[in-house]
Amino acid sequence: MINDPKVKKVLYGGDYNPEQWSIEERNRDMELLPQAGIDTVTLNVFSWAKLQPSEKKYDFSDLDRIVDMVSQKGMNICMATSTAAHPAWMARKYPDILRTDIDGRKHNFGSRHNSCPNSPTYKKYAPLLAKKLAERYGNRSNILAWHISNEYGGLCYCDNCKKAWRQWLKNKYKTIENLNEKWNTAFWSHTYYDWEDIQIPSHISERWNYDRTNMQIQTIDYYRFNTEGIVNMYRMEADAIHSVLPDAKVTTNLMSTYPELDYNKFAPYMDFISWDNYPSPNDSYTRVAFNHEVMRGLKRDKPFCLMEQTPSVTNWQPYNSLKRPGVMRLMSYQAVAHGADTVLFFQMRRSRGCCEKFHGAVIDHYPSAETRVFKETAALGKELKLLSDKFIGSLEKTEAAILFDWNCMWGVMFSSGPSVDFKYTDEVYKYYDAFCKQNIPVDVISPDQSLDKYKVVIAPALYMISKENAEKIQRFVQNGGTFLTTVMSGMTDENDLVTDKGYPGELRKVCGIWAEETDALLPGKPNSVVIKDGSLKGEYPAVILADIIHPDTAETIAVYGSDFYQGTPVITKNSFGQGKAWYVGTCADRDSGLLEKLILSITDEAGIKPVLPSVKDIEVTQRVSSDGKKFIFILNQGTEDKKINIPFEAEELLTSASVKAGNDLMIKAKDVLILCRN
Ligand code: GLA
Ligand code: ZN
Repeated sequence: MINDPKVKKVLYGGDYNPEQWSIEERNRDMELLPQAGIDTVTLNVFSWAKLQPSEKKYDFSDLDRIVDMVSQKGMNICMATSTAAHPAWMARKYPDILRTDIDGRKHNFGSRHNSCPNSPTYKKYAPLLAKKLAERYGNRSNILAWHISNEYGGLCYCDNCKKAWRQWLKNKYKTIENLNEKWNTAFWSHTYYDWEDIQIPSHISERWNYDRTNMQIQTIDYYRFNTEGIVNMYRMEADAIHSVLPDAKVTTNLMSTYPELDYNKFAPYMDFISWDNYPSPNDSYTRVAFNHEVMRGLKRDKPFCLMEQTPSVTNWQPYNSLKRPGVMRLMSYQAVAHGADTVLFFQMRRSRGCCEKFHGAVIDHYPSAETRVFKETAALGKELKLLSDKFIGSLEKTEAAILFDWNCMWGVMFSSGPSVDFKYTDEVYKYYDAFCKQNIPVDVISPDQSLDKYKVVIAPALYMISKENAEKIQRFVQNGGTFLTTVMSGMTDENDLVTDKGYPGELRKVCGIWAEETDALLPGKPNSVVIKDGSLKGEYPAVILADIIHPDTAETIAVYGSDFYQGTPVITKNSFGQGKAWYVGTCADRDSGLLEKLILSITDEAGIKPVLPSVKDIEVTQRVSSDGKKFIFILNQGTEDKKINIPFEAEELLTSASVKAGNDLMIKAKDVLILCRN
């Protein structure tokens, strides 16, 4: 991940906020944390108030002490820049730093992640602080990386943002006539005469509520504009650090499918991807795996960093269940299995006050090494030390990709119709789930990435598509690739203007169909997908949406089981050039097994093999090192012990046991095996 020769193991540790503790408490932590095998701490995430107590005054004395203290213990540091919550004096003196919310309310000082991306004050003082930190701590050889701000997010609707937004639109559309055309403003008499007529799409202009809006393209553009503004905040700090330390590694912690920022726009400026994994207790293991893969796909040629996870509980969910014994370890290895080279927690020590006082930590309110959480952390710490650098730097090797795109997410999210139940991320996830359950490695990438290395590309709900990307897909299939897309694909161009070529628009030729109409299926009233023969034979529920399809050149694989379009195609397959294009005209029920069978058959036909045959609740991934060594991670995500057959000779790394080809291995519930083979 960090690609630092000093890093010889999975880095283990996480956020440590000693500014909240007395010296005695800090000293006690320094005795405890090494006992848990902690070797890396993220410091200084929320200390701006202390570092800059007034406009002219900077005070690094406490941070100096903290850095010295953890360095004396031989720990690595991930140094944060503290800019995710501005100081109170700054808000008092320079209110431009405060955000205005979607209801048009100017906020007072409070909370965090609260600075306006277009505030001149923030733009001046945030990079300045980052620079001062780089100057002061740049010579510390144990600082492995710089953590800029924290979980960027949200939008601002203030007058400074409005000004910047209008400028952004001018740069993009050049003339007001062009903007009127691209935004289709003749609708509801929205024609703009002047740039000053353009408002921010908020609850006091175009948006009805969080996910509905009258003029979708305006909100989509506002989200693009906001992403650019926030990426710019990040880049200003990164540049400030690099002006002092040209080789410093910089990152910021992302949140997987977070809907308000297009993370593809961050990736080029991040030396490595890092992210915070906080599933809810009800999330399936494949959903967590999907979140990891969305993050890994941002930089598919590099391991990523698990920047945060809780060792036990969160505080902010409706029900903050404990991670059961073994689950923290299992989830840590799951991150590693999907390409992380770090296991970092939020946080090292539990706060005593404020909203995170009931958030879990390695050291509890009662600072004992005898707590369950501390003991589990220490046991994993020991294991990670023993594993040393065995798989550090290795990567998943994939021959298939799933396309995931924030523009499509926004297009679907803000759409008025066809169904409120149609959720972009959930639809993409259903296809990932099928790959994951079949143990088939797959990248989750942006449609802007190259498709050259893949045999199979899956594009669920590729709602919005540019001409260039449509042509790229066409070439991919022409040259022998297998492509699959679904209902609500190829619907609009980048301006959310619907195709007039017949759905799925730019993808119509490659799919060889015309989807004439789309029906919304009522909850509890599914149609069905009927497949008469072959490996997919059966009847499966069709839910949420149903396209009524006319094949142009495609063959029909499955038909609807009922309603006035009974017997008409729902799944089709088209030969195009050397390749094949599948179209699934409905949404599958994740538990019906249809997508698992479909993905298995498509990948098999394309010559892609699962890492190991599928066993229920057993997750299997594979990382491959640059010298060709394969690391197979086997995770028992279920509640029962399982047997799994290993068809190759290997070494099990956690026990050093050798495994003969054809052996059955027992894997206990929630346990992990890591096999290494040449
Ligand atoms: C986020 C933040 C942390 C902390 C955790 C709690 O990930 O980055 O500062 O608030 O949530 O789960
Ligand atoms: Zn603003």
